Amino acid sequence: MSEAVIGRPVDRVDGSLKVSGGARFAAEFHPSGAAYAVMVQSTVPNGRITRIVAGEVRKMPGVLAVLTPDNAPALPKKGRAAVNPPAGRVLSLLQDHEVHYNGQPIAVVVAEQFEQAVEAAARVKVSYAARSAKLAFEKAKAGAYKPKQLTHGKPDSSWGSAEAGLRASEARVEQVYTTPMEHHNPMELHATVAHWEGDRLTLYDATQYVSGVRETTAKALGIPAEKVRVICPFVGGGFGAKGSVWSHVILAAMAAREVGRPVKLVVTRPQMFGPVGGRPQTEQRVLLGARRDGRLALIRHEVISHTSVMEDYAEAATQPTRALYAAPNGVTTQRLVQLNVGVPTFQRAPGEATGTFAIESAMDELARELRIDPVELRLRNYPEVEPATGRRWSSNRVRECHRLAAERFGWSRRNAEPRSMRDGRWLVGWGMATATYPAHRMPATASARLLRDGSVIVQSGTQDLGTGTYTIMAQIAAETLGVPLSRVRFELGDTTMPKAPVSGGSMTAASVGPAVQNACRALRDKVMALAAGDAASPLHGQDASRMDLRDGWILVANDGGRRENVESLMDRTGAVLEARGEAAPGKEEEEYASRSFGSVFIEVRVHESLGTVRVPRIVSAYSVGRLMNARLAASQMKGGIVWGVGMALFEKSDLDEHYGRFANGNLAEYHVPVNADVGEMEVHFVDENDTVFSPLGGRGIGEIGITGVPAAIANAVWHATGRRIRDLPITLDKLL
Ligand code: MOS
Repeated sequence: MSEAVIGRPVDRVDGSLKVSGGARFAAEFHPSGAAYAVMVQSTVPNGRITRIVAGEVRKMPGVLAVLTPDNAPALPKKGRAAVNPPAGRVLSLLQDHEVHYNGQPIAVVVAEQFEQAVEAAARVKVSYAARSAKLAFEKAKAGAYKPKQLTHGKPDSSWGSAEAGLRASEARVEQVYTTPMEHHNPMELHATVAHWEGDRLTLYDATQYVSGVRETTAKALGIPAEKVRVICPFVGGGFGAKGSVWSHVILAAMAAREVGRPVKLVVTRPQMFGPVGGRPQTEQRVLLGARRDGRLALIRHEVISHTSVMEDYAEAATQPTRALYAAPNGVTTQRLVQLNVGVPTFQRAPGEATGTFAIESAMDELARELRIDPVELRLRNYPEVEPATGRRWSSNRVRECHRLAAERFGWSRRNAEPRSMRDGRWLVGWGMATATYPAHRMPATASARLLRDGSVIVQSGTQDLGTGTYTIMAQIAAETLGVPLSRVRFELGDTTMPKAPVSGGSMTAASVGPAVQNACRALRDKVMALAAGDAASPLHGQDASRMDLRDGWILVANDGGRRENVESLMDRTGAVLEARGEAAPGKEEEEYASRSFGSVFIEVRVHESLGTVRVPRIVSAYSVGRLMNARLAASQMKGGIVWGVGMALFEKSDLDEHYGRFANGNLAEYHVPVNADVGEMEVHFVDENDTVFSPLGGRGIGEIGITGVPAAIANAVWHATGRRIRDLPITLDKLL
């Protein structure tokens, strides 16, 4: 083995490409002759299109085509692109005249120039027979129903006995917590460039899942998957929005086929609020029953979240409740209500971001009720096994996280009384919460090729959402092969490469990493066999099983003098060596529960007369398994934490309950944190190596950062003011 490269805090290998503009994102691909497509959206939330007038529009300058439900080519499945995984999506592909939400794509205009398409799209006249729409969550609750499934697991779970739990409870907290609709807005908009060459389709698409786009597109269009190639070398943020294929992808392909030219369709910023998913609204009723000493006797969590009328998507907010605390009795339920809005979807830490707000706020309320320190309350309820299933943990270091973060934050200096700390007119509050996100793995494949110049190209059809996939895979390859990191190039984002899963659910490192490792191990064996078999090599005739590869040198164990450089071997033999590797999770999941944890401590300042909340300081510690790159890991956490600040204080999509449009569907009015909103941030990791879960020991870090932060802020706001806000976001009107 070579010296450790995995874990080293190296710079992003794609960093210079990104800052120099050399990294090409989907919308920047421009096959010659490409025309521009713009989606026309419905303006009613429910109804039927009775008439579309586009005749004059077709004569406008530059206009090449207007696709509407009147003239769009019929697709084999009536637009129902059944896909799995990651989610079956009901797409709007102009196959009928029905409107299910305001903002639904109902036509596509293609023109020579982008501006011409925008202008023409605005002139398409549509008449509707409108129907009354379901837009009020409160009213829709009467029709709440149980979904068939959550993304992972069943909608309801229970363990022990709720009655026994209630009887044993000496203290109780029962409250309702709510979180609003939100919309992910990565810097990079969704975009698709569709290019047909005969019956072959190439899509340059902004996606978290090139293989998924390929499959879904093929199914929707009724063509073989082999005819579709999807390319996506860079993603400017995904966060779950780009984990599914949305209507615009297929519409771009349909439009390109129609006009016989490549077509570029970039979703606009206002279009990010509707047809491409978002985080569901939740209403969460939590009951915690405990003994006087703080040990939980019962934990109950009932969640209602919204979905569209087209399709079920359930925000699995009960997931963390099934895992966090050692309550002997538990009940969790998930219900859905339908609204006439676009289908919601995974949004960073789906389930856990919303669920931890409720459960971790309730734990803080229970701590107050029992007069037990909030950290101590969590430590007393550490679960030796996963409560809902009884499975052992592959590794669980949540207690170490609490202790480390508490110490670095200075928690022992906290006065437990609310309104006990102030700085002039600012009330100061300290709060904390547990962070958590489950660990997932899926099968993945990779290839590794050693070129004649001694450099290595490793490929896997995975994605880099900006998280650092390029960098950590190169690190894994370099260490496994025993060559310098600078000699390895990792390539991704193309369906011609070995297949990899969706970059979602924080599972790329743990899924693709082991496949890369296996490909590189196989390649290493081939290098040694080549050396052993080459008469001109100093290693000729040596036992390959006794050889090693270190820093680019092939050598024999215990014989330092007998060695050859990989470059000279490759150059002399003229060989190109290639190997493939695959990896898949085994049966560990039946026996072990795998989950990451963390602990977040936050100081807030609340202005006593204005209600303004500031967040000057956040200290956190995480147990996420072994780190592939310490710098990128901390960077991931910081991004998630900043989003947590946004979720706590700013983010909310305001649905107009009459028209069904989002009143603040733009980045001027949909508020997210800016630099001035983020104070000091400290991110720590506890040492951990979870090889039960994954051979590389890591569990994944993409999503956990946001979790716990909204509750820690709500808890700190309570500590500052004595006011308990159970409804996100915590805006100043709720504190006045
Ligand atoms: Mo993540 S919300 O599964 O991309």
